[in-house]
Amino acid sequence: MAEIIGNAIIKLMRVDSTNNYATAQMAIDNWNEGTVVLADEQIRGRGQINNGWESEANKNLLFSIVLYPEFLPVQNQFLLSKVVAVGIQEVLSKLVDNVKIKWPNDIYVANRKIAGILIENSIMGNVLSSTVIGIGLNVNQRTFYSAAPNPVSLCQLLKQELDLADLLTKLFNSIDKWYCKLKDGDVDEINSAYVNKLYQYGEVSEYEDDEGVFVGELKGVNSIGQLLIQPVEGEMRCYHFKEVRFL
Ligand code: BTN
Repeated sequence: MAEIIGNAIIKLMRVDSTNNYATAQMAIDNWNEGTVVLADEQIRGRGQINNGWESEANKNLLFSIVLYPEFLPVQNQFLLSKVVAVGIQEVLSKLVDNVKIKWPNDIYVANRKIAGILIENSIMGNVLSSTVIGIGLNVNQRTFYSAAPNPVSLCQLLKQELDLADLLTKLFNSIDKWYCKLKDGDVDEINSAYVNKLYQYGEVSEYEDDEGVFVGELKGVNSIGQLLIQPVEGEMRCYHFKEVRFL
């Protein structure tokens, strides 16, 4: 059972973005840690780097979790991304095979994206004072229209619709479990769960950076969340988000 996440749920039929709503209201209304904003429909769902997030009304899970990880130093903030990605991966892997975390925190089934995570942190001094963790999971949508790369839903994979409320409870429990591990300092367990499920981990594949296309082995991530790739020739390279492309 979730200790923190979902202890209060604000359910909206329609909103621009659950992340926007949570960010605007959490301070005004003094929300408790674990409060969730859940929407049936977003009219301006946001993805990473100014992308949108496509979701047909009432078909998918669209929610934002408010946390106050004041124990977490800024330089360790990527651990939060790991916790959320591992929590989602764990739930989905009980339903379908081949669920991976594509760095930094996209959830893929084989080569198709099934869920996205948008984490927006507020920093005070050297720690995270609050965070809004937005999650979009494709559940019962059968057709996707946007230019998003290779979207897929659980319904497309399983050929049947799923109960959204039941899935939401499972996600709360799983993310909560991993967030509690973070609070307890079980960092090694979090790191190994993340790397074990990392897309293309240990594989030699093609990538592209500023200098062009190269072949290398994905070695994992460093403590600040940079992706580590060992080219077949030359020194290990490390990348921030958007500095390297998977080909
Ligand atoms: C990504 O680009 O992969 C991140 C997508 C995150 C989408 C979710 S849906 C709920 C929450 N509200 C938003 O506007 N975005 C996130």
